Amino acid sequence: NPVESCRRGEKVTDKIVECSDPNRGFPCPPATRIPVVDFTPEPKVTRIRQPAHLLDAEYQAKYKEAVRKMRALDKSNPLSFAAQAAVHESYCDGHYRLDPSEKNRPFDVHFSWIFAPWHRMYIYFYERALGDLIGDDTFALPYWGWDTPAGMGIPAVFKGDDDNPLFDPYRNMDNNDALIDLDYLKTPRRPTVPFTPPPVSDAAARQAYDDAVRTNLATVYIQQIRDGKGPRAFLGEKLCSEASSRVKEVNERSKRRQGAGAPKVKASNAQGTLERMAHTTVHVWAGRSSPKAPATCTVDGGGVVAHDGKPHCNNDMGFLGTAGRDPLFYSHHANVDRMWHLWSTKLGGKGFDDAEWLDTSFVFYDDVKSPRLVRMKFRDVLDVTNLGYTYDKESEAALPWLKSKP
Ligand code: C2O
Repeated sequence: NPVESCRRGEKVTDKIVECSDPNRGFPCPPATRIPVVDFTPEPKVTRIRQPAHLLDAEYQAKYKEAVRKMRALDKSNPLSFAAQAAVHESYCDGHYRLDPSEKNRPFDVHFSWIFAPWHRMYIYFYERALGDLIGDDTFALPYWGWDTPAGMGIPAVFKGDDDNPLFDPYRNMDNNDALIDLDYLKTPRRPTVPFTPPPVSDAAARQAYDDAVRTNLATVYIQQIRDGKGPRAFLGEKLCSEASSRVKEVNERSKRRQGAGAPKVKASNAQGTLERMAHTTVHVWAGRSSPKAPATCTVDGGGVVAHDGKPHCNNDMGFLGTAGRDPLFYSHHANVDRMWHLWSTKLGGKGFDDAEWLDTSFVFYDDVKSPRLVRMKFRDVLDVTNLGYTYDKESEAALPWLKSKP
């Protein structure tokens, strides 16, 4: 177990000193030209996050309008869509490094107990920025409710073409009208089933659909309940120099020694079920599974340059570095956030009580009042009402996976 070799009392998150990509246009930690303020809890809940598949026409229009405006901002504006996506990119795939005493190891907000709170912070500021752009401080980020049958597909509001600001062409279009497969990474993969339930008269197709829904619900049950007992299992293991970054190191070393085909240690060692299961699967299902660019994929051929400087084709959601470029990402993460919220409220899950976790902090840009950087600690975000939002009560009353024990 990599965690057991973690040195006592070390605080890796305090040691991030260097942004490794000063020239690539990713936001390095902001220089202190603008004030850094500590986060203070919002006085009341003003934003109710609803499922994206149930939004009325007015709300859909609002969501589109907000993202349209965000996309229109110049990328030099920290609240532009491009800059927001770059925030995610810079926090993964090794753009930030730990200080030299940590041998300059890459820092990542994935693969450890940092995952859930960091992403909660990130989409909180995204949500606020969208509300601000349309002058509506009750605007709440719709969530992609893939844990209920009616939400097990790409919500209609995200579909269409480039005229829809919520659309992204770098998705796996084979899955555009498919029922989600929350076990997409398992082999053998089940055949694709349409999102729209086939008529009962078509017995075989209907059976396949019902089975697929049932398997999805069982997977959510396993993630939330059966395998998600306790904070280490659900939220992930402590981030320390010997844990998640060690995984990369081990892989790099064996690659150096044995070449590209060397067997890999799995990064999921330090991930909790919240990150490792539906979260990851949905990314890959919506994007593409292959991290390798096909030979024909060049920047001129429509590829995008990812963190490693190589072109990746048709793959925003399926690749950490580019995932934030698809608006779907934020609604997907709103549901991941809701899964954590449900776990810690309805299911009675308790977070870590280590001060090291509770006091880990990150700084985000915010200019809803005036340009400033807000420092948030994990302890600030454990209760979503502190952040002025919550999730709709109706969906909480009926969670189909609660009784979906496999
Ligand atoms: Cu930062 Cu879903 O990943």
